[in-house]
Amino acid sequence: MEIKVLSIFPDMFDIIKKYGVIKRALDKNLVNIDLVNIRDYTRDKHKVTDKPGYGGNNGMVMLAEPFYRFYDEYLSLKGHKPYVVLPSPQGSIFNNDIAFELSQKEELIFFCGRYEGIDERVKNIIDIEISIGDYVLTGGEIPTMVMIDSLLRFIPGVVGKKESVENDSFFNGLLDHSHYTKPADFKGMKVPDVLLSGDHGKIESYRKKDSLLKTIIKRPDLFIKKELDFEEKELLVEIIKEMINKNTKYFERS
Ligand code: ADE
Repeated sequence: MEIKVLSIFPDMFDIIKKYGVIKRALDKNLVNIDLVNIRDYTRDKHKVTDKPGYGGNNGMVMLAEPFYRFYDEYLSLKGHKPYVVLPSPQGSIFNNDIAFELSQKEELIFFCGRYEGIDERVKNIIDIEISIGDYVLTGGEIPTMVMIDSLLRFIPGVVGKKESVENDSFFNGLLDHSHYTKPADFKGMKVPDVLLSGDHGKIESYRKKDSLLKTIIKRPDLFIKKELDFEEKELLVEIIKEMINKNTKYFERS
C-alpha cells in the first residue's frame, strides 16, 4: 500500500514511522508512507501556504492551490485519480469499518489542514471527509496518524497474528475479550482457571462469553446492533443460566 500525506509539519509523522508495528511494516515494505511538504507545492519565494479568510475575522485558511498542484501532478504521473482523505471535524465519524474500507485501497492520500482549515474548493478533489470524533484538534496530522495506525492493522502481515485483528474490539461487532499474563495470581487477583486449563475449546467459549458480556455491559449500543449467530445465542443462554444459578433470589423476587 502507498500512502502519501500532505502536511506543513511532515516531521510529526516520525511518531508513527519510527516505532513498533508500523516501523516493522515499513521495514518489510508492506506499506510506504511518503510525507509531502505542502510548501513544496507553493509558487512564491516565501512558500506561503495560508492567507486570511474572506469575510474577515475568521483567521487563516490554507490555500487551495498547493493541494491542486499536487493532485494534478499525481494525475499526470500516475494516469489515474488518487483516493483523497480529508481529516476534518465536519466529516463522517471514523470507525473500524471505515478503517477496513481504507485499508483496501492500493493508494491513499491524506490532506492535512491547519488553522481554520483548507479553502472549501479543495472539497472538489477529495473522496471522503473523516472526523475522528466530535472535538476540534489543531490540525489534520494527529487524525491522519490515528487513521493510518488503525487501517494498517488490516494489511496482511502488519500485525503478527491474523487472529489478533479478527478478535479485536469492533471487528465482529463486539468488544475484545479480557487478556491476562503472568503471574497467575497477582496480589490475590487470580487469572480465571479456564485460561490455565489448556482446554482450547473451553477457552474459546469462555472468551466468546466474556466478549458478549463486556459488550452488553460497556457498549449496549453496539450489542443492540449486533446480529448474533447461532453459537453466540447459545452462549448467551449459557451466560444467563450461569447467572441464575449463582443468584436464585432473582426469581424469588418476581
Ligand atoms: N481536524 C481538526 N479536528 C479534527 C477532528 N476531530 N477529526 C479530524 N480532523 C480534524
